[in-house]
Amino acid sequence: MMSRKSAGLSGEAHVPGDKSISHRALILGALSVGETRIEGLLEGQDVLDTGRAMRAFGAEVTQTGPGSWRVHGVGVGGFAEPGGVIDCGNSGTGVRLIMGAMATCPITATFTGDASLNSRPMARVTDPLALFGARAVGRAGGRLPMTIVGAREAFGITYTVPVPSAQVKSAVLLAALNARGETRVTEAEATRDHTERMLAGFGAEIETEVTEAGRVIILQGQPELKPQDITVPRDPSSAAFPVCAALITEGSDVLVPNIGLNATRAGLFTTLREMGADLTYENMREEGGEPVADLRAKFSPGLKGVEVPPARAASMIDEYPVLSVVASFAEGRTEMRGVKELRVKESDRIDAMAQGLRAAGVDVDEGEDWWAVEGRGHGGVTGGATVESRLDHRIAMSFLVMGLASEAPMQVDDGGPIATSFPIFEDLMTGLGAQIERAGP
Ligand code: S3P
Repeated sequence: MMSRKSAGLSGEAHVPGDKSISHRALILGALSVGETRIEGLLEGQDVLDTGRAMRAFGAEVTQTGPGSWRVHGVGVGGFAEPGGVIDCGNSGTGVRLIMGAMATCPITATFTGDASLNSRPMARVTDPLALFGARAVGRAGGRLPMTIVGAREAFGITYTVPVPSAQVKSAVLLAALNARGETRVTEAEATRDHTERMLAGFGAEIETEVTEAGRVIILQGQPELKPQDITVPRDPSSAAFPVCAALITEGSDVLVPNIGLNATRAGLFTTLREMGADLTYENMREEGGEPVADLRAKFSPGLKGVEVPPARAASMIDEYPVLSVVASFAEGRTEMRGVKELRVKESDRIDAMAQGLRAAGVDVDEGEDWWAVEGRGHGGVTGGATVESRLDHRIAMSFLVMGLASEAPMQVDDGGPIATSFPIFEDLMTGLGAQIERAGP
């Protein structure tokens, strides 16, 4: 796909449902007894793969309309043994959460994914699952394909998550559902808390204490989860693309309605405002236990480079690629520290972005857990490069956003991965006036 310098973007950008919340809605629906109704589900490939997996474990999952889904769950501990391999495609969230959910059921399941997912570390999840009594056998380095033999009888554990990861925290909490007694999970840095919020909504006994060691989540095992009606808020991580595109494209004024602004997710917007972005929150409200607002983003010619503190990393971990694009159009240097996790996402996102940005004429410095972009100011980014998307949706979308404001067009070799999280990206962006097209045959 290719994008080229565009006139001002305008209009409303209705981005799809939140990916994190969509996965969790399907999984918790499958773990409750009765019918959960979900509206606004993200129908991206990652979430569809989780829906298919829930069927393989015995839940009934049906689509009743666009974004409308019903899940008939089997109850906590009720997962059946799948008859085949569970293919989670590109989704680290899908596979890690599902591994957690099945690890305390007396069944065996084998997981695989695409080349990206099969290269990502799974020991971070199988280590705590082993404390519940689950056994895992995978490839070298704890990679998929991997088989998990669930514990026959599990007891609650006390665990401190060693890396800032909502996926690991959530895998432990989902495993704890079918363990006897209490599980305590500590995280030093707050990561997205959708699992905790949704578990409480489904009727689990769950509390969070803030201590010197961080957040401690205490969950009582073996609850009966009650089916829910869930409206999925729209995804701030998807909203990031039209918002950032508007900020760097001259003459833009874009409204992105109904965006979930949970504090554990909103770090990008805070950072953009610190950079001087003309980005406002309109109509702040609460929906389904999550804070929501309409975002208005306007072209912002005077953006300044900033230092993004490590403490903010978890709340914007998926947004660093597109932030680095905005930083390229700012004056001065943007430093992003405490971001080692970026190296084990769908791709090594520091390496993928650094290579593409350099090819587009932007200087980047990097270390193992940090990187810095030398902004070239509005009108200063050359562009004119072809970059690899590396099976990573956010790399592909970030460089397509860059091409809307760089002097020469940007091309990505494979736009296919965009469908994992934002299947309507191209239509939505072109609807705002972005010049994005499918290049090649
Ligand atoms: C997610 C957590 C994050 C994030 C991912 C979604 C989740 O991963 O990068 O896109 O839904 O829990 P980590 O928890 O591994 O940081």
